[in-house]
Amino acid sequence: MKPILISGIQPSGKLHIGNYLGALKNFVDLQNTGRYQCYFFIADLHALTENPEAKDLSVNIINLAMDFLAAGLDPKKSIIFQQSKIQSLQELKWILSTLTPVSELMRMTAFKEKVLQPLKLSDRKKITKEKLDEIIGKSNFGLAEYPVLMAADILIYKTEFVPVGEDQLQHLEFARMLVRKFNGKFGETFIEPKPLLTEVPRLMSLDNPNKKMSKSLPAGCLFLDDSPEIIRGKIKKAVTDSGREIKYDSKNKPAISNLMKIYQAMAGQSIKSIEKKYKDKSYGDFKKDLTEVIVAYLSPFQKTKKRLKAQPQKIMKILETGAAKARIVAQVTMEEVKKKIGLI
Ligand code: AMP
Ligand code: TRP
Repeated sequence: MKPILISGIQPSGKLHIGNYLGALKNFVDLQNTGRYQCYFFIADLHALTENPEAKDLSVNIINLAMDFLAAGLDPKKSIIFQQSKIQSLQELKWILSTLTPVSELMRMTAFKEKVLQPLKLSDRKKITKEKLDEIIGKSNFGLAEYPVLMAADILIYKTEFVPVGEDQLQHLEFARMLVRKFNGKFGETFIEPKPLLTEVPRLMSLDNPNKKMSKSLPAGCLFLDDSPEIIRGKIKKAVTDSGREIKYDSKNKPAISNLMKIYQAMAGQSIKSIEKKYKDKSYGDFKKDLTEVIVAYLSPFQKTKKRLKAQPQKIMKILETGAAKARIVAQVTMEEVKKKIGLI
């Protein structure tokens, strides 16, 4: 049997090139190796932690399904589905939550970032323990539980590999901890999932190279749906570093290094050859070419997506078929788990 590989993306807004280069492109490449049984899902339950409007969430779910397919995920090769359609996931989440120390959830970086997001950066740094407790007390419980649901997503299919961006590594480590705990207490059941990272595990924002590109900060994002004109404008405006050399140095020249990473990934050229090519050129020259590289790279994706937009029924059918397959595997795991923990 092929090893199981799984990943999910939240339908919480348009996908940006960080999501693509850090995750989605890798999903497609891994799928196409034929070496894994792949599951890819729309993490709609995770997206609920941000309390979206119902109409936005449903639009985002379909949009993300189109992104999956336009990028090259193929229902003939992978199981593609919506997380919320797998009812038994809730049972595993509950069981895993009973093995989870609350303190582990409170120390998660993503949780702290989400909870503190409304505060100004300067205020976050000098926050007192009392104030932090007050803010956590008011935050929704789903935000705290987030990693337990994610662990359930992974474990319920007995997953071995999880392609994600760097920001998810702590959540994966948490899932590994739960595997050790569960297996230690109830006997070998789950496999410790291993992350698979890309060459661009953490793309930085176009307007601030010290922050990762993130859906929640749209000003610094380049979206997969952006038109050539928008891409041109965004790359033109993207911040650069002092000096004028096109040289990869993520410490001292984080902005240009980030743009070079995009160039490298999309043009398939090494950093060395990019440095050589732009040795006597200006940031302006580099940015002009980078724009062309991005526009050309995204063009096939955008064309396919346009075609898929006219076929919403087909997309719903793909998601339903995927969920039906995933549900069976999830149920088998749950029967085993229930027996092992004494729920006869
Ligand atoms: P999310 O939108 O949070 O569901 O993220 C979907 C996937 O994209 C996850 O695997 C993330 O780790 C990855 N990802 C998100 N932002 C970035 C980024 N700036 N650079 C690389 N990968 C990212
Ligand atoms: N938390 C992930 C993110 O924001 C999405 C996700 C949910 C996920 N469940 C998962 C990713 C299971 C991998 C495996 O990107």
